Amino acid sequence: MASKPESLTPQPSRLEHDLAELARIRNPESGGWTRTVFSEPYRASREWIRSRMVDAGLEVHTDGAGNVIGVRPGRRPGAASLITGSHTDTVESGGRFDGAVGVLGALELVRQLTEHDVVLERDLLVVDFLGEESNDFGLSCLGSRALAGELTSADLDRRDHEGRRLGDRYAAFGLDPAGVPGAGWTSSRPLHGYVELHVEQGPLLEERGAPIGVVTAIAGIERLLARFDGRPDHAGTMPMGDRRDALVAAAEAVLAVRREGCGAPVHGVATTSRLVSEPGSPNVVPGAVRMHAEIRSVDTAWLSAATRRLADEIRATAAGYGVDVDVEWSTDNVPVPASAEVHEVVSAAADALGIAWEPVPSGATHDAVHMARLCPMGMIFVPSRGGRSHCPDEWSELEHIVTGVQVLGATVLDMDRREMSAGTTS
Ligand code: GLV
Ligand code: MN
Ligand code: MN
Repeated sequence: MASKPESLTPQPSRLEHDLAELARIRNPESGGWTRTVFSEPYRASREWIRSRMVDAGLEVHTDGAGNVIGVRPGRRPGAASLITGSHTDTVESGGRFDGAVGVLGALELVRQLTEHDVVLERDLLVVDFLGEESNDFGLSCLGSRALAGELTSADLDRRDHEGRRLGDRYAAFGLDPAGVPGAGWTSSRPLHGYVELHVEQGPLLEERGAPIGVVTAIAGIERLLARFDGRPDHAGTMPMGDRRDALVAAAEAVLAVRREGCGAPVHGVATTSRLVSEPGSPNVVPGAVRMHAEIRSVDTAWLSAATRRLADEIRATAAGYGVDVDVEWSTDNVPVPASAEVHEVVSAAADALGIAWEPVPSGATHDAVHMARLCPMGMIFVPSRGGRSHCPDEWSELEHIVTGVQVLGATVLDMDRREMSAGTTS
């Protein structure tokens, strides 16, 4: 049955209730809202999501990659499926909205479709992707990465800082690790398009007074592990000029990382997150340091040039302190432009609903990065108060989330009916 986008009006109280219920499930021993991947609170939250999907009338299963998928069958069984969703894991001491808005917003959309007797042409899949947030294994977006066929058997041998294998963590969570590398989407039933609703997690929409952001591109992430090898010595006796202090060399590297981010054109950021100094005794000159950092940008050329510049600068500065350094970069994801067509559909949906929107890049990474390998991809952002995210103060106004669900609904209705090509905004 045809339905006008404006007739799909999400119920704010239902969304607010769902967000509050999900927020109750968290690790009580951590700050903020903590549901890290493979943890017990995360297991409980996914059980809850599964039951909410069933309540919304979806046919629910967990795929070989650990993604919880709810299917709303369409009228044409052979037609390529539409897919939406996000994640319900959080960073340590995170917030209530990152990821949750995309999953719970999609569920509210499904309830709206059913209440308005809308039967789509295509199956609509709502996904709670496994473990989107970066983890100790150095791999974000576990579920969507696997769905895109990008998670390999070698990845299962990665270890966290406690020495635990990723494959064993899957098994302890009740998932067969052997099935994960083969859990990629098969082309027997292709995907028509992917659209994800998410909080912006940055300040642009608030600054521009726009309730909706239409994502242009998602930043690539290069991660740095630098191992500084100096020399431990007596902190009371070794003269300053004779030291090979690994932590001083690392401190210079922290500032070099920051300078690189500050000098980026368009969009670029750089962050050092961790320094581990050995032996860590008050009376010993630090002999070895491990440093973890990352740089991000939607600009591929800047990103690769910045990794080279930083590696050179870190090595040269460390040498001045008599410290050797091993610099290792790994790509979490390359920059990914949104599909030009999905961008057009989302912005036209907002226009038709009389909702102001702005084109915005995403500095955060998303499951959408990996879904873009399978089908045309787009994202809808709603404002984050003060641009804050990945912290307990993360907040998005209910009114904006409701608006986001409305735009998601209008986008899904339009994409359901149109033929899609695979172009991008770049
Ligand atoms: C996830 O939110 C990330 O951008 O790292
Ligand atoms: Mn997220
Ligand atoms: Mn996040």
